Amino acid sequence: MVKLLVTGGAGFIGSNFIRHILKEHPDWYIVNLDKLTYAGNLENLKDVEDNPRCRFVRGDIADRELVDRLFREEKFDLVANLAAESHVDRSILDPAPFIETNVKGTQVLLEAARQRGIAKFLQVSTDEVYGSLQPDDPPFTEESPIRPNSPYSASKAAADLMCRAYFVTYGLPVVITRCSNNYGPYQHPEKFIPTIILNALADKPIPVYGDGQNVRDWIHVEDHCRALDLVLQKGQAGEVYNIGANNEHTNLDIVKTILRLMNKPASLITFVKDRPGHDRRYAIEPSKIEAALSWQPQVDFTSGLKDLITWYIEHRPWWERVKSGEYREYAEKWYRSL
Ligand code: NAD
Ligand code: DAU
Repeated sequence: MVKLLVTGGAGFIGSNFIRHILKEHPDWYIVNLDKLTYAGNLENLKDVEDNPRCRFVRGDIADRELVDRLFREEKFDLVANLAAESHVDRSILDPAPFIETNVKGTQVLLEAARQRGIAKFLQVSTDEVYGSLQPDDPPFTEESPIRPNSPYSASKAAADLMCRAYFVTYGLPVVITRCSNNYGPYQHPEKFIPTIILNALADKPIPVYGDGQNVRDWIHVEDHCRALDLVLQKGQAGEVYNIGANNEHTNLDIVKTILRLMNKPASLITFVKDRPGHDRRYAIEPSKIEAALSWQPQVDFTSGLKDLITWYIEHRPWWERVKSGEYREYAEKWYRSL
């Protein structure tokens, strides 16, 4: 029996990852440590809540006592750290929780892993640590300089560097992945693709920051989860693996594509003030993981978007609950700030 600690398993990627691991590894046991912030939602794991191979623990990765106790109790073989404050706009409103969770929380986990010993520590990072590309630049490779521009990406870069230090200094078997923008089921409605689909369903204006020409490189969350699984098992300690699906689009193109798939008018598109420090373009060069671990993305973008639109139509109670309460307060504050 392999024991895996997943942090942030009640979030978007974490819940998809837990579902993937339970399906692919019948002999693995998972402990899901999640603080249940505004972004954590146990409804994301409703279909696996009775699975005896998955235990949920509510707690903060930055809580040293709790993390140490958990490592003593469970004797983990593997750690996958997905817990994070993940939204760039929120990091602009208030960077402090990003330092606490993304930087301190990662160090607390690394230290517990060092004290107890583990076979692999997977740090789930982001292409945003590389900063921003100009239109003609080649995509980010694992050798690209670290040049974060937002408080969110700076906190993720700090965590990556701490992971590197634990590998070099203590020999902790750390691997880092840097993935591009994910889309798929259970993503929080604060993010771009959920905002487009949900506003279009309600015939509400779709806010496009700036001129809409910023480029993101989109990947389906299932392709990301398959890559994380491979890196956890076969990734080489001390290495970084970029993950991306060679799928660059401007934000404006994404909105137009989704509106076309939903038979909604382009008149819903509404340009709003730009995000401060808005990165112009991200693009990932994924050839290292493709060659080293034989990973390839499998989900076609248009089919992935069509399935996602259907998913939202079929999961109205899920997103209606998520969009009430705290989310509403945040959205009002954010749009007032623009
Ligand atoms: P998310 O915001 O949907 O989920 C984050 C989860 O972490 C939530 O369940 C939340 O409750 C939990 N959490 C937050 N602070 C915590 C703390 N202190 N202790 C324990 N749990 C805590 O985020 P996501 O989009 O699923 O991203 C998951 C990870 O993947 C993050 O590390 C993010 O940086 C990284 N990532 C995301 C993307 C993307 O496009 N979404 C792309 C590349 C990398
Ligand atoms: O690249 C990986 C990163 O992708 C992850 O590390 C982050 O956790 C994740 O949130 C995401 O960051 P982005 O800032 O790229 O994602 P977001 O969905 O917030 O925005 C995508 C693009 O759409 C970005 O250029 C800003 C723009 N946007 C966003 C929103 C919410 C809009 O134009 N309008 C919007 O309402």
